[in-house]
Amino acid sequence: MSFQEKIEAVRTEFRAALDSFPNKPQEIEELKSTFLGRKGKVASLFAQMGSVDPSERPNIGKLLNQVRNDLTELFENKRTLGASNVGQKQQETIDYSLPGHQFRIGSLHPLQQTMDEIKTIFRDIGFSIAYGPEIDDDYHNFQALNIPKHHPARDMQDTFFIEDNVVLRTHTSNVQIHLMENQDPPLRYIVPGRVYRNEAISFKSYCLFHQVEGLFVDKHVSFTELKSTLTYFIHRMFGRDTKVRFRPSFFPFTEPSAEVDLWNEERGQWMEILGCGMVDPAVFESVGYDPEVWQGYAFGMGVERMAMLKYKIDDIRLFYQNDVRFLEQF
Ligand code: DAH
Repeated sequence: MSFQEKIEAVRTEFRAALDSFPNKPQEIEELKSTFLGRKGKVASLFAQMGSVDPSERPNIGKLLNQVRNDLTELFENKRTLGASNVGQKQQETIDYSLPGHQFRIGSLHPLQQTMDEIKTIFRDIGFSIAYGPEIDDDYHNFQALNIPKHHPARDMQDTFFIEDNVVLRTHTSNVQIHLMENQDPPLRYIVPGRVYRNEAISFKSYCLFHQVEGLFVDKHVSFTELKSTLTYFIHRMFGRDTKVRFRPSFFPFTEPSAEVDLWNEERGQWMEILGCGMVDPAVFESVGYDPEVWQGYAFGMGVERMAMLKYKIDDIRLFYQNDVRFLEQF
């Protein structure tokens, strides 16, 4: 094989190598150094120049230089072409018509939202927020609220007993007693919290639910104040045009007592939403407030009931099933 033929053989070999051009960066570099590196095939041809007849050397030298330049150029062309091919492939994988990634973020539970709204409204008009025990003694849940043992009013609230005199609170009214035992009047609080009742579970009652209690004690508190405060609250909660009705009722811890209804346009009927009244003097006596000096009003509302009316939910159990299809609507 003449030296020229050797040179052409390297060129042919290189062309073949380029046909199956690798795409890993490391393999590409290896291919380059096999042919064009310091110890590559082209370099070894240069090294063999010594065996060439001196009269031939200028021609062979020229030819070798050309081959080296050609191969370098071929290699670089192939490499940039490969790179742009890769680029194109990547672009093709971006399909702008596909739906984007969805980031699922949670939301507040509808009861929490309703509770927050109730709190905001009362905070705006000067109420502080207090909390009290969910497990309490019979005294705070009943007796101090003017519900003695064996009083028929106890039948209104089926009770979970933990021990003879310890109950899961049946209402947030127990916190009225704790608040008044622990501080002197005047006071103005709302008390959000969980309450428990041993009732048959159905679309309208659950063994656990939430209430917000209200208590205002001061000198010269009138029923008119109670009425306007609750009307203001309902108008903010359900809209200014909501029709409200105060209906005489009975609770052992208030006198007089009332229940508040609002007009439900869709059902064409009044819906009871809360109980209220002027704090009964017997309650003041049990906490050591002088009923001749102090007056007050109290109210209690069910949070589930508020949420059901506001969001048109017809089954209380939905709040406790945590079905995402329900929750994600809020
Ligand atoms: N505790 C009552 C209940 O659970 C609701 C209630 C009615 C609370 C009248 C009050 C009130 O503070 O004045 O049914």
